[in-house]
Amino acid sequence: MRVVIKPGKLEVGAWTANYIIERINAANPTPDNPFILGLPTGSSPILTYEELIKRHKKGDISFKNVITFNMDEYVKLPEDHPESYHAFMHKHLFDHIDIPAENINILNGNADNLEEECQRYEDKIKSLGGIELFLGGIGPDGHIAFNEPGSSLTSKTRVKTLSYDTIVANARFFDNDLSKVPTTALTVGVGTVMAAREVILIITGYNKSRALREVVENGVNHMWTVSMLQLHERCILACDNHSTMELQVQTVKYFNEIEEISQKNHK
Ligand code: GLP
Repeated sequence: MRVVIKPGKLEVGAWTANYIIERINAANPTPDNPFILGLPTGSSPILTYEELIKRHKKGDISFKNVITFNMDEYVKLPEDHPESYHAFMHKHLFDHIDIPAENINILNGNADNLEEECQRYEDKIKSLGGIELFLGGIGPDGHIAFNEPGSSLTSKTRVKTLSYDTIVANARFFDNDLSKVPTTALTVGVGTVMAAREVILIITGYNKSRALREVVENGVNHMWTVSMLQLHERCILACDNHSTMELQVQTVKYFNEIEEISQKNHK
């Protein structure tokens, strides 16, 4: 696990966007060999998306041969609801880049048969050869996508009931009214994320510090589902200083030193 610590969330956004751009450009994707990118919603990736849009406008990156899969979507929230993850993704990324509409995949929380929809999603990811790079965020309770505490660490895409903590955390998007927050969602599983060839998680803000401590300093534990990423071969945590508040000083020093040394080696 690589832990990259930046002073603030602006720097995290710029660093993460640059990393994604480098990875896509290095793969040199074509229509026959597209780059398969997993994407999250939430406030954490917004600055990364803003930077990706800026760099796209500068001509540094094209998304013509990128196929995306989003992590999750609420059940029974109309797609055109401003807080649906469909609306979020179009507003914050897709409407501003050159990705073809047919390359965008987001779970349909209004499908007649939700189980079939989840299986279709898994099958489509598989048929394209799997996800190359999965970008993610985490909830304050250490969830990844909507894999709430206690979720199976080998789970695949499925319907999940949201925890009270998540409903409270997401009420800010629904007029702070808990009763307006959907209580179920479709989500990729922890196993779906683990199957990606590389994972980057954006972890910013003091409210994520306890979860970050669990992921970095404690063991794999289904009550902090993101901790499963300790077993991933290529996982990067892109953090800001605030999120490291609960880490030991020694841990922060250790990861900062590693980054410094590896940067010197690359010069
Ligand atoms: C929701 C999403 C997660 C996201 C989390 C954190 O629960 N399903 O994918 O990581 O919110 O959101 P934020 O980045 O706003 O803290």
